[in-house]
Parts: sequence; C-alpha cells; structure tokens
Amino acid sequence: MKHSKLPDEGDPGKASFLRQLDPRSKPALPAGRLRGIEAEMKTPTMKSEKPPLVLPKSESWKMFDNIARTYDFSNHLISFGLHILWRRKLARCLTSRPDQMVLDLATGTADVLLTLLRHNRNVKYGYGIDPAKRMLTIGRDKVAKKKLAVQINLQHGDAHDVPFKDNHFDAVTMAFGIRNVENPQRVLQEIFRVLNPGGRALILEFSLPKNRFIRNLHLFYLRKGVPFIGALISRNNQAYRYLNQTIEDFPYGEAFCQKIREAGFEKVKAHSLLFGVATIYQGDKA
Ligand SMILES: C[S@@+](CC[C@H](N)C(=O)[O-])C[C@H]1O[C@@H](n2cnc3c(N)ncnc32)[C@H](O)[C@@H]1O
Repeated sequence: MKHSKLPDEGDPGKASFLRQLDPRSKPALPAGRLRGIEAEMKTPTMKSEKPPLVLPKSESWKMFDNIARTYDFSNHLISFGLHILWRRKLARCLTSRPDQMVLDLATGTADVLLTLLRHNRNVKYGYGIDPAKRMLTIGRDKVAKKKLAVQINLQHGDAHDVPFKDNHFDAVTMAFGIRNVENPQRVLQEIFRVLNPGGRALILEFSLPKNRFIRNLHLFYLRKGVPFIGALISRNNQAYRYLNQTIEDFPYGEAFCQKIREAGFEKVKAHSLLFGVATIYQGDKA
C-alpha cells in the first residue's frame, strides 16, 4: 500500500530502537538511573495520555480483510441492525438528478451501493473501491446474487488516490470509512476532485452523542460491549478495540463539517442519527 508508514526491518531508526529493547545489549546508563527511568515508564505522569491505536490506520484494510467473512454478521449484531436504516437514510440524501453515477469509497462488502440501487431510483450505476480484496469478493457475490453486476462494479483501490478522472461522478459516498484512513483531508480532496459540478458528497460516520448521559452509556457499550461481541464472532478482539478507539478519536459534528468545507464543499450539513451515535455529512460541489 502506498500509504503504509510502518518502518521496515532495514530502517536504521527502528534498528536502534530495537537495540535499546534488547536485554542482551550493554546498558548505556548506570543501573540506578535505569531503575529510575523504568519507574517513570510504569507510572505515566499525564493522566490524559491515550494508549496508541492497536493498529496504524494505514494498515486498517488488512484487519478488514481478516474479518471479511464475519463482517456483515458482526455489523448487524453490533449496531442492532441500525446500519441498514442509516444506509437507507443516506440513499434519501442524494440530489434529485436522474441517472446518477455514484462512487462509493471504502465500499467493503458493497452494502452502500446495493442500498442506493434498491432505494433510490435516480441511481443508475455504482462503482465501489476498497483495498481489502476479501471484502470485495464477498461484495461481488452479493451483487451477483441480486443480479446487479451490470450496474455495480467493484475495484481494488485506495481512497487517497481515487483511480478516476476529475469531474466524473454525480455523487460520492463513504460509509464508516473516512475514520479508517490515514489522511482524511486528502480523501475529502479526492472526493471533491472526482465529483461533477453540482454533485454531492455523502459521508456516513460514527460520532458521539451530545447528551452526557447518553454519551457515557454509548461509550460504555463501545469500550466493553463491542469488543466482547466482536471477539466472540470474529475471534479478533483487536479489530473491535480498534473500532472504539477510532470512534472516540475522530472529529465529528461541526469540527468535521469544517474539514469538509476546507476541501472546497458548499452547503455543508450534518444529519445526526440516533442521538448522534452516527452522522451523515453532506457537501455539494458548486
Ligand atoms: C467499517 S468498513 C465499511 C465498509 C462499508 N462501507 C460499510 O458500510 O459496511 C471500513 C472499510 O474501509 C476500508 N478502507 C481502509 N482503508 C482504506 C483506504 N485507504 N481506502 C479505501 N478504503 C479503505 C476497509 O478495507 C473497510 O472495507
């Protein structure tokens, strides 16, 4: 992947860091000072320090590739089926332009495109891109079963470098994907680039409720419930800890609307879903 930033084994910085961790290497500091440093490392002084992401965002697609087989089922269970209603709401947010050609980024198993084709008669063709090949394979099977292979095309690709020319699509959608990319601003710029003038971007993403009581309840579910259910189904506890970490860290509401404006969009709106558990962001290209 072009955006992968993990240092490779030959990286001199990483080699020296690994040498520091090697218990066989000679200590460069006296034992007393070393004990002091160890104590400091065990008792972090800054209370607000967050643990690092269990996985760098540039590698998130690999995790989705690993859980592809159980992804749809876990999604139903974890969101109590609400993700279906949210995608339908997304379908209603498109413009009324007829015969639209839509691009869906981070398309995964193609649920957004399947919903758009089924619930909005203004959508004629859908293209989906995602770097996780196993997610796409499942998506293609679903598209074939619904006999929509002529209208929906899924391709391997990265949202940071969308493989389409400028001013090409009437709408670009992205559901639960922007939170997973390394450089969301770059992705917003790519969305703007490939949209036709008059086209609309629709981004569905998790957010946090404004009401403190509901937010705390939701955070408890995200931190405890979701990793538990996720681990039971996919046997991948890491994937579902990653989910709550990325939701808590990602800008939402007005902060994200501002990022959309910065990419060039106008008439930016946020539609809050279920007390703000998720939000659909909408922006138009003039
Ligand atoms: C939570 S899933 C969402 C899938 C689908 N949109 C849905 O609504 O079910 C996140 C998707 O983002 C994809 N993804 C991760 N990094 C990406 C990138 N750089 N470009 C495009 N997609 C990416 C993952 O492979 C995964 O399929």
